[in-house]
Amino acid sequence: MSKARSQSTTLLILIFLFIHPFCSCAQEYRNGAVSSAHKLATEAGISVLKNGGNAVDAAVAAGFVLAVVYPQAGNLGGGGFMVIHLNDGTNTSIDYREKAPGASHRNMYLDGEGNVIPGLSTVGQLAAGVPGSVAGMLFALERYGTMSREEILKFAIDIADTGFAVEEKLSQAIESYRSDFNIFEGSREIFGSGVLPGTLLVQKDLANTLRRISDLGKDGFYDGETAELIVEEMKRGNGIITRDDLRAYEPKEREVMKGSYKDYELISMGPPSSGGISLIYLLNILENYDLRSMGYGSAEAVQLMTEAMRRVYADRSEFMGDADFVNVPWDILTSKVYAERRMQDYSPNASSKSSDVMHGEAYYRESDQTTHYSVADGFGNVVSTTTTLNDVFGNRVVVKGAGFLLNNEMDDFSSKPGVPNIYGLVGNEANAIEPGKRMLSSMTPTIVFRKGKPFLVLGSPGGGRIITTVLQTFINITEFGMSLSSAIDSPRFHHQWLPDEIQFEKNYGNEEMRRHLDQMGYIIKDVGEFGKVDAIMIEEDGSVKAHTDRRGYGSAVVF
Ligand code: DON
Repeated sequence: MSKARSQSTTLLILIFLFIHPFCSCAQEYRNGAVSSAHKLATEAGISVLKNGGNAVDAAVAAGFVLAVVYPQAGNLGGGGFMVIHLNDGTNTSIDYREKAPGASHRNMYLDGEGNVIPGLSTVGQLAAGVPGSVAGMLFALERYGTMSREEILKFAIDIADTGFAVEEKLSQAIESYRSDFNIFEGSREIFGSGVLPGTLLVQKDLANTLRRISDLGKDGFYDGETAELIVEEMKRGNGIITRDDLRAYEPKEREVMKGSYKDYELISMGPPSSGGISLIYLLNILENYDLRSMGYGSAEAVQLMTEAMRRVYADRSEFMGDADFVNVPWDILTSKVYAERRMQDYSPNASSKSSDVMHGEAYYRESDQTTHYSVADGFGNVVSTTTTLNDVFGNRVVVKGAGFLLNNEMDDFSSKPGVPNIYGLVGNEANAIEPGKRMLSSMTPTIVFRKGKPFLVLGSPGGGRIITTVLQTFINITEFGMSLSSAIDSPRFHHQWLPDEIQFEKNYGNEEMRRHLDQMGYIIKDVGEFGKVDAIMIEEDGSVKAHTDRRGYGSAVVF
């Protein structure tokens, strides 16, 4: 090599090292942080960061640990979304949402008379979409991580192999679904007799599945022994996932949805999630009003936000689905002009009415079912991930011999236009079932920027209420002057167009506010807690705060 060439190569290497996202020289923050639904997942993430890993390494380690210690929602058999900001300015997202199996069809959950068969899209093998989590997490690690699969998976393998002490809340959750678990052989073996608090839960089959993933990568799950076990499980019931479906599964790297609110910029998940579009659309509406002077919990603020939510969720139902299959007008839905136009018929003095689209009795659940985790490293990279099996413990089917639960994400499709799913959400043509299509999600992993730098990393479970939970956490901080912990822990409310009611969490607002809204014609309904935000806030001086929602039993650690 000539001297000149070698000098320019050295220069290139230096430039690369300087701007490379994983380079520790760009020390933007003093701290790293992990906030997740379980302390062992947070500990794994922190340990990775302390060993020099970046935020993606830590997020993937935490994700695999959640699959072991938080079976309500952490998963190998489900799907999720990861929104990433790297310190070189790159913003990207990884879509590892489940897909409808090849043999699925739009009327698969209907009887001969065209009515939805209760339970078919929620419990049992037929409710499962082709899982995406393993492929997605490995993709993120290979593309944006710095550590090896083996280094990252060892945390989850160790815990599955040697066990962890079951918490009271997990024990109770298992108890609530025992009758379902007892239907399925694989589930009965682990959960069928219940698991008392404090019991050491050892999961050898799961450890072996994780080992296959560690050794073989994606093929350790989507091919070979694990794939065989999944297909055998399908045959034990009425499932339709085939070897070909598994082999064909690919995660997708997608452009993030971008929005702004006053001085803040944000990125979030685009289709097949409705989360990013809906959050940006809501913020575009709200930015035109003075929420700060209305105040948290005031009738004025609740009324305005309700009317915004009503309009956004009506559009969600009509227009949103997997953009690989249907044309989602995201550019219009996230435009400031459209948001303003949609509120032209808004009056601060009266309730508007949702259209009378037919819907059944909505059915609400507590929000244990999905999980969000946020990670920031010391290099300036941040990761916001939401993952789910859909319902608590997914379709309740543990793949026999493989030790993990499958999702019931097929229920996130619209089984029939206008008929609500388990979150009371209705859908239409855009979200009808088609082979290979991804079902519409509300998951909203989000990163907010202030003066161009990451400020908030947040997201939540909560089905259709995820979007409004993320919205209120953000507004509580930026308009109502709350700290990160108060913004997350304060009571919330929700409206989703149909059913036409405002859902208040216990202790939300005061009697006077409720009376005021009632007089204006709003229907108010008290519901249980919803949402569990796990978030990180990075102050302008680079110091970091993290918080886990009081509603869960997670752990937020800054080091
Ligand atoms: O993707 C979705 O929108 C739902 N499957 C999320 C489910 C959920 O958040 C359950 N937790 N309450």
